[in-house]
Amino acid sequence: MRRSVVAGTGRYLPERIVTNAELAERIDTSDEWIRERSGIAQRHIAADGEFTSDLATHAARDALKAAGMVPDDVDLIVVATSTPDETFPASATVVQSKLGCANGSMGFDIQAVCSGFVYALATADNFIKAGQVDTALVIGAETFSRILDWTDRGTCVLFGDGAGAVLLTAEEGQGTSDDRGILSTHLHSDGRLHDLLYVDGGPSSTGEVGFLRMEGKEVFRHAVKKMSEVVIEALEATGLNAEDVDWFVPHQANKRIIDGTARKLGVNSDRVVVTIDIHANTSAASIPLALSVAVDDARIKPGDLVLIEAMGGGLTWGSGILRW
Ligand code: ACO
Repeated sequence: MRRSVVAGTGRYLPERIVTNAELAERIDTSDEWIRERSGIAQRHIAADGEFTSDLATHAARDALKAAGMVPDDVDLIVVATSTPDETFPASATVVQSKLGCANGSMGFDIQAVCSGFVYALATADNFIKAGQVDTALVIGAETFSRILDWTDRGTCVLFGDGAGAVLLTAEEGQGTSDDRGILSTHLHSDGRLHDLLYVDGGPSSTGEVGFLRMEGKEVFRHAVKKMSEVVIEALEATGLNAEDVDWFVPHQANKRIIDGTARKLGVNSDRVVVTIDIHANTSAASIPLALSVAVDDARIKPGDLVLIEAMGGGLTWGSGILRW
């Protein structure tokens, strides 16, 4: 059975760090409130003229380097983003050009907001399993700072900019949960929950980019429930238990959501990768950023069982189980 094995991870964060204290100088908030309610201490913000495709390209180069590969080795580029440089073309094609790919590969974007990386990973995995490609670069990249209403303290303190990437390559496995690679992915959406989290603009409605709007309390409630359920679905599909999981790498939306989900699943906090404190919520970039951090600091090692999950606007949600 063909499996999609992670050959390398990469990440990029814009240089500029904005602390809670700095935000408190501009809006009616405090470091204490933000830390207590979300676990966030700081976020990175892209510079003027620095685009989502730039962040994505840096992260992609980092992942290629880690895998010992070059851009023309890649057959497929999938970028998960809700903040593309332009309405079209897809950011993946811009990244393809910036990387200097000249091998006739394909690239497209996935839009599932904060679940975007899980959706993109599942899509690339299915292309690999079908035998249509052998190598895929899966990138989560966002400049959420550009769709935030900086006068809305209920949302603007929670998000940041960044990009993470994983490089997948095809490998033959036995078809068991001992195989290396992506073992299972599970995706869901429910469009009836649109009003809980959306951007109030777009090319076909207002003709303007718009700003992120969120019913924080309701999103919180759905997040813990839906992410726990979709993780259980993944464990059941693979015949694995929470105790088998070496690293739980959840979408980094809120430390309290992460703690609540881990508790519900019975995953010990020392097996949870947390980057929300330093990255804030980077939407589709948060999981690949966290994966890259945990690989580089030698927490995630070959053979480890890694569990990912996310929920985002739509609502969309999903999970994946990988053996590193
Ligand atoms: N600083 C200070 N006070 C604030 C701030 C702020 N930045 N924001 C809100 N408040 C105030 C409110 O006005 C309210 O004041 P009031 O009681 O006088 O009316 C008080 O703090 C409490 O506000 P709540 O909204 O009830 O605070 P809550 O404990 O629910 O926390 C939060 C808000 C952090 C947004 C929380 O609901 C949350 O994390 N929700 C999930 C958000 C999330 O994860 N979104 C992303 C998921 S999907 C994705 O990643 C796109």
